[in-house]
Amino acid sequence: MINIKSFVANEIKKSVVNEFPGCEISADEINKMLECPPNRDLGDFALPCFKLSKTLRCSPVIIAVNLARKIECTLIKSANAVNGYLNLKIADSYYSEEVIDGIISDGDDYGKNSDGLGKTMVIDYSSPNVAKPFHIGHLGSTVIGHSIKKLHKFSGWKAIGINHLGDWGTQFGKMITAYRMWGDPENIRREGIDGLVELYVRFHREAEHNPVLNDTAREEFAKLERGDPENMKLWREFLAISIEEYKKTYEQLGIEFDYYTGESFYSNLMTPQVEILREKGLLKIDDGASIVDLSDYNMPPCLILKKDGSTLYPTRDIAAAVYRKETFDFDKAVYVTSNQQILHFRQLFKVIELMGYDWYNELVHIPYGTVSINGEKLATRSGNVVLLKNLFTEATEKVFEIIKSKNPDLENKEDVATSVGVGAIVFYYLLNSRIKDSDFKLEDALNFDGNTGPYVQYTYARCCSVIEKAGGIPDSLSARGYLPCEAEISLAKTLSLFGEKVREALAAYEPMIITRYLLDVAGEFNKFYHDCRIISEKDERTRSFRIRLTEAARITIGNSLELICMKKTAKI
Ligand code: ARG
Repeated sequence: MINIKSFVANEIKKSVVNEFPGCEISADEINKMLECPPNRDLGDFALPCFKLSKTLRCSPVIIAVNLARKIECTLIKSANAVNGYLNLKIADSYYSEEVIDGIISDGDDYGKNSDGLGKTMVIDYSSPNVAKPFHIGHLGSTVIGHSIKKLHKFSGWKAIGINHLGDWGTQFGKMITAYRMWGDPENIRREGIDGLVELYVRFHREAEHNPVLNDTAREEFAKLERGDPENMKLWREFLAISIEEYKKTYEQLGIEFDYYTGESFYSNLMTPQVEILREKGLLKIDDGASIVDLSDYNMPPCLILKKDGSTLYPTRDIAAAVYRKETFDFDKAVYVTSNQQILHFRQLFKVIELMGYDWYNELVHIPYGTVSINGEKLATRSGNVVLLKNLFTEATEKVFEIIKSKNPDLENKEDVATSVGVGAIVFYYLLNSRIKDSDFKLEDALNFDGNTGPYVQYTYARCCSVIEKAGGIPDSLSARGYLPCEAEISLAKTLSLFGEKVREALAAYEPMIITRYLLDVAGEFNKFYHDCRIISEKDERTRSFRIRLTEAARITIGNSLELICMKKTAKI
């Protein structure tokens, strides 16, 4: 299928060349200026001519009139100048034939592009801290990260997903200390990660009146770093319990990682990097600790080694970045974390630059805002957290109840309830710009009538049910020559924008663009569904056309859902 927006930009460019010889503007620049008016009466595309008026030294009103005169092409039905805007309408047959045929023949590939062909990206996301709760704060990294990975794959990139588990650091000293003092192996075996979190929370509570515990914890971690067998054994156990638990959550989200290489993976790879820092004269000793002074760049120092010589979070990140470059030879490495780590990544990227690695500008940090639940902030240490798995369970149970009352005969009710319940949370979360802080209200997320995940999944299921009742998809010839109504054109037009949205979402690292697009498609489809008879339509050509349009909507919704970590459900 042609990219209609680029096509239109090209036609306008031809007109510019004709009317204003010598003008240097490219079709690409015109493409960027093109708008899609919300109301089709104005046109399918509009070019505001205000920006051109400087380059062309002419008033926008006259530019629009002159350009409109010169546009001649069968795909463009009309070109009108209105108050400095050039409004263009695309031939209806383009939407009713070419778009629908194109979507159906592309199927699962609809919306893909090959912008990233031959390029590799590495994405570090989710990365919870082992033995600490996997709470709703990590939802962002998990679903934003996975969507960004999928968007890249969809655009031809080779995308490698890494879970940089927080599996090293002082918190393991705390865990080991707590386990030796209060741990009950039976309880841990039974409770899994919850048992570990309980110990973690207890450690902090007790350390408040008994600060010596913190010293013990530091010693235990130092022992662990030296490879003490007893501590290593406990650490391995904590790690296994946690990963097993995380995998359940990832499975519900349909997420798989290519690597679970946490911070500990880099324990032997740090020394050579610390040596480079030293050789380059970048290390300074400050109160016994080794740091990189970043005051020339208006940043606090980056901590490399503690007084006792143990490594830190940034040290491990330096080693990880170098390892990834050497192993995967990436063109881009993306990190998705909360906005509390913006400074950490600015420092990290600067240190990597100062070390002389010329690929420092291939590193990208994607931050996101914090989440509160019903207005309440989350705190790990006090134990006041909403665990992701509990939230998923609650949502799933609520959806299960709704399904039981609305559709008692549905098969696989549990599976559907999980897909819809978990999907509701993902959708709700991805509905807003990632950088904004958000507040979570489960009730809103689960509202089947609102702008929610369940509403979109329900629309998908509705398309599937139409197709099932139709008994298959009629071929394109059987719909040829049909003159579509406005609701039909409008839906087809929205469907045709998918590829454009994929590019936009990737460029801005913003899954929200897909989420909002899904709402547009669902809205358009439901309008069409209410306005037009489909299965019961008598006229054969009309019926064929409408079934094909439904199939095109089903494909587009399905492909979009997959990009934002939501499962497709043929029946709800
Ligand atoms: N474990 C960290 C956290 O929960 C996130 C790790 C992000 N990735 C990285 N390479 N630093 O805050």
